[in-house]
Amino acid sequence: MLVMVPAHPLIKHWISVLRNEQTPCAIFKSAMAELGRLLIYEASRDWLPTITREIQSPVGPAVVEFIDPREPVVIIPILRAGLALAEHAPSVLPATITYHLGMCRDEETLQPSIYLNKLPDKFPEGSRVLVVDPMLATGGTIVAAIDLLKDRGVDSKQMKVISAVAAPPALQKLSKKFPGLRVYAGMIDPVVNEKGFIVPGLGDAGDRSFG
Ligand code: PRP
Repeated sequence: MLVMVPAHPLIKHWISVLRNEQTPCAIFKSAMAELGRLLIYEASRDWLPTITREIQSPVGPAVVEFIDPREPVVIIPILRAGLALAEHAPSVLPATITYHLGMCRDEETLQPSIYLNKLPDKFPEGSRVLVVDPMLATGGTIVAAIDLLKDRGVDSKQMKVISAVAAPPALQKLSKKFPGLRVYAGMIDPVVNEKGFIVPGLGDAGDRSFG
């Protein structure tokens, strides 16, 4: 499995805004969206199908490349917090289709459960899928989400995970189960505490985005 933490000062900046406990809700949510914009840009490098066309510029003919609109990138935000991180996906990528997945962890057992599933029964062959969840802590949520996608025909080699902060337990679980997966994270933090929070992390990304 490949884990990318793109070395960009803007990514560090938005992570710093997110980490700060004094950042108010509205700013937290927009910082998360900006971080998502940058990570999605990085993740889409060398990944998007293009088509070549001849067009006319105002001063003459030109052969140009566009993103192929017939193969939209599938965006899967994991609610709630994934909504903020995925907010700019449709403006970064010219062709997208979004399916929402609502999941939450039990506060005691830390086991994930699904409360909303808008996934189609089957994805078209070769679909490129971005699974968007800011926090990869114990890894239970992201593994359950990827299992649902695999059941619907998506190979994990065709998936990329976009997250703000990832922790070793989640990365180890993902790497063991889905060796072909690629993860793009703003930061890797060392610890998940007994309550399932990444330390130092960002706190509860869902609560901090939506109150
Ligand atoms: C948080 C977070 C991830 C999950 C990570 O969501 O956004 O989805 O927990 O934890 P895990 O790796 O240990 O499974 P939460 O369940 O708090 O829901 P929310 O986004 O609605 O706040």
